[in-house]
Amino acid sequence: MNDTEYYNFIKPYEDAQQIMLSRLDILDHTLYDSSSSPPIHYIQHRIKGRKSIEDKLLRKEKACTVENAKDYLQDISGIRVICYFVDDIYNLLDVLKGQADLIIIRERDYIAHPKPNGYRSYHIITGVPVYCLDGMEYFPVEIQFRTMSMDFWASMEHRISYKKRTANKEKLTRELKEYAEMLIDIENHFEQHNEKEHRQKN
Ligand code: GTP
Ligand code: MG
Repeated sequence: MNDTEYYNFIKPYEDAQQIMLSRLDILDHTLYDSSSSPPIHYIQHRIKGRKSIEDKLLRKEKACTVENAKDYLQDISGIRVICYFVDDIYNLLDVLKGQADLIIIRERDYIAHPKPNGYRSYHIITGVPVYCLDGMEYFPVEIQFRTMSMDFWASMEHRISYKKRTANKEKLTRELKEYAEMLIDIENHFEQHNEKEHRQKN
């Protein structure tokens, strides 16, 4: 895959990402009534770089071609939505899943079912319709929904585990699992101040 091939290849993935970012922005200011705070704290997004695409194809033992990238990788376009409360995540997902023109390619609820290492997040791969002169084609966009504490843990775990791959791995794994549990506890305390929950209950 040369530079020109890469840049032509990712264009529709960028378009699909822009479409999804706009939809999320609309949901952020329409999901709750105007007297409530919006659900999203912030959004990050990235398009997988050429090197990262090639490395992943190699790991999958596939040749580094644009055809293989299209066929085997579904996270070329990635969005991370950082919310305040777990409820906000499920409320956003409910509405997003009701948008009839989107298709859901894959869904993983690591909030209800955290990974054994303590990782929590809700992953969804959506097929976003992109219209051009030739017609319409769905392009995958991976969206990871997290609360701030889920994102804090995942970012630190990514950073630390990445740097200390060999030394003291077991101790570190145990420690990180403990921190994940502490963060759930803290998050539950903050949940008590979720005014949207209160409003629904009262
Ligand atoms: P990938 O091949 O990495 O895309 O994994 P997958 O296809 O099995 O999908 P999964 O939904 O499990 O994970 C996709 C992405 O979620 C990863 O690329 C990371 O961004 C994030 N992720 C998953 N597990 C972990 C974890 O244990 N720690 C951290 N920090 N991030 C994770
Ligand atoms: Mg991935």
